[in-house]
Amino acid sequence: PGHPVVYGDWLHAPGAPTVLFYGHYDVQPVDPIEQWLSPPFEATVRDNELFARGATDDKGQLFMHLKAIEAHLRQDGRLPINARVIFEGEEEVGSPNLDAIIRQHKEELACDVVVISDSPMFEKGVPSICYGLRGLAYFQIDLRGSTTDLHSGSFGGAVANPAFVLAQILSQMKDRGGRVKIPGFYDDVRELTDREREEFKRLPFNEKQYRKGLGAPRLHGETGYSTLERLWARPPFEVNGLLSGFTGEGSKTVIPATAMAKVSMRLVPNQDPDRIAELFEAYARKIAPKTVEIELTRMHGGKPWMTELDNRFVQAAARAAEQGFGRTPVYTREGGSIPVVSTFQSELNAPTLLFGIGLPDENAHAPNEKLDLGNFFGGIIASAYLYEEIAATEQHG
Ligand code: BES
Ligand code: ZN
Repeated sequence: PGHPVVYGDWLHAPGAPTVLFYGHYDVQPVDPIEQWLSPPFEATVRDNELFARGATDDKGQLFMHLKAIEAHLRQDGRLPINARVIFEGEEEVGSPNLDAIIRQHKEELACDVVVISDSPMFEKGVPSICYGLRGLAYFQIDLRGSTTDLHSGSFGGAVANPAFVLAQILSQMKDRGGRVKIPGFYDDVRELTDREREEFKRLPFNEKQYRKGLGAPRLHGETGYSTLERLWARPPFEVNGLLSGFTGEGSKTVIPATAMAKVSMRLVPNQDPDRIAELFEAYARKIAPKTVEIELTRMHGGKPWMTELDNRFVQAAARAAEQGFGRTPVYTREGGSIPVVSTFQSELNAPTLLFGIGLPDENAHAPNEKLDLGNFFGGIIASAYLYEEIAATEQHG
């Protein structure tokens, strides 16, 4: 069901490790389309950057591996590893059908390591190996206060206003210090270790530059945590979109009949999306006043993921990154989600290497998404080396 999953393999390196490459060819919606400087589905190069929806997330990074595989085959007629590729088209909606496919095709997908390039580097020139991702729980909230919009003169003051009620509900999801108020929300959160906090501090992160790059007047997040800790290891509550009432030009004296919000929570190990969904729904229903009808719809979700760095493939990736980018990588966690990663771990029992070459400012999910071509070519070289380095780990134990 759903969009096709693409599978391919080259399995002619007896004794060598088998690598499963995962990527996704689907993308998030292009809107607001008027803000694109060139059409989103015509790849356009400007100043050594390739602009298109999916350029960095994830078609460009997926294509990097195809080019590295092609380079090996062209030069040597073979690969140093056994390769399987699986590309899906539903990652951006939480991979609703992929878990079942993986379970049904365990043998065809058997591998020693999964390689995924669907994440950014820490910054330009600083390659990274990412050992943790956040998960996601996403909902739509619909409120109805009356059967139709009402004249605010004839009815204002006598009925609840769903737009206002929605704002009140949302304002009770978080306190001013950025802490989520849903009871039980933090119960399963795995706290950062002192060692991790130390290591995050050592990363070359410039908070002022980060803020300026975003055009944000001030940064905001959970009290007691640094920006990187907030991004990688803490679960925030976000409003992704709001819709209610009259938003056109001019004014209209109206009490909207309905109000809608899309909300989501990024999750961290060991929070479970289903458990969080129950807690969120119970709390939302509890705080919603009786003056409106509330409907909660579960959209997609994904589990958080975290791995140890003590497997032999991590060292191979570090050496490969150095060959492609001239610098040893840093070890990071990330705030985004790739729902299938935890499934690869549990079903295939294989570690995942997140070997991303995107950049944090490449506008993933936003207008004018792009891919730095320097990174793209560096990434092809690094990937070509990666396969050799992975093969070498096997020989040297
Ligand atoms: N490439 C991202 C995941 C990502 C983003 C990893 C930033 C590391 C840093 C992926 O394509 C993505 O956007 N995933 C969605 C999944 C969601 C819809 C379940 C996301 O994170 O919003
Ligand atoms: Zn994405």
